Amino acid sequence: EGDVGGAAYRKHGHPLPPETLEIARSCGAILFGAVGDFSLDHLERRLRPEQAVLGLRKELGLFANLRPVTVFEGMEDLTSLRPEVARKIDLLIVRELNGDVYFGDKGTRTLEDGRRQGWDMMSYAEDEVRRIAHTGFKAAMGRSKRLCSVDKANVLETSQLWRDVMIEVAAEYPEVELTHMYVDNAAMQLVKNPGQFDVIVTGNLFGDILSDQASMCVGSIGLLASASLAEGSYGLYEPIHGSAPDIAGKGLANPMATILSAAMMLRHSFGLEEQAASIEAAVAKALAQGVRGGDLGCSAGTREIGDAVLQAL
Ligand code: IPM
Ligand code: MG
Repeated sequence: EGDVGGAAYRKHGHPLPPETLEIARSCGAILFGAVGDFSLDHLERRLRPEQAVLGLRKELGLFANLRPVTVFEGMEDLTSLRPEVARKIDLLIVRELNGDVYFGDKGTRTLEDGRRQGWDMMSYAEDEVRRIAHTGFKAAMGRSKRLCSVDKANVLETSQLWRDVMIEVAAEYPEVELTHMYVDNAAMQLVKNPGQFDVIVTGNLFGDILSDQASMCVGSIGLLASASLAEGSYGLYEPIHGSAPDIAGKGLANPMATILSAAMMLRHSFGLEEQAASIEAAVAKALAQGVRGGDLGCSAGTREIGDAVLQAL
């Protein structure tokens, strides 16, 4: 175990202490909690809790973020969509995690006329796009062989290069049907007809936004797990949600996304498919039995949910 985020800042003065990074490097995989603490939002950016997860992603070369989105049985009525629309969702968001506007130069400056300006540079180098393209195409090969690349090539040069490279890489996967969609349209289609998507590959910022949106299409952000993979089997596994300081220590947080992240860890880092599937089935069973947390408008607490999943397992 290592401290990260707000807790690490309070204890060691840094959200990602060197000891924690060292521990992370020495392991085969990382199960990550969640970061974010609005009481620390006043700190300079490099000390804010979010830097813990951004730092781990970058330092450890975790460039491929897999965010599967499926609707669990019985959840159709609890999503933000009509049940018959939600029922069709079974997609995978492949989000690039090491580049884009997240990691470009940024700053604030004062212009000659005295106005303050904030700026963040968006860029992707072709090799960065190429490696996530391969992740997307390989994922598509293992599913329905359809890959939708989401960009904003009608406005952004970064996106035009993204699209060009996607098309180049597609030549290596003749069996996969590659389509392109602008991100604004993708946001709309995700609500209108999410069943049309199988694998979506997109950049860091668009993937961040679309995955939160997709979570509400299947019920709650408290149910979505993710894997952040480096080349090989090394990975970091975390729920796609942040922390919830307002309910800290109250035993109210839904642990299901974290439990499902552990399942992804067994699958992707340790090759334990059967065990991963058992855990996922146990979560599905607990949900079907009506064990649901506050994020789903119900009342089950952290321990109750954990016990129910264990029981089902
Ligand atoms: C996510 C989160 C992070 C991100 C935050 C906590 C920095 O929103 O994993 O989606 O923006 O990537
Ligand atoms: Mg996010």
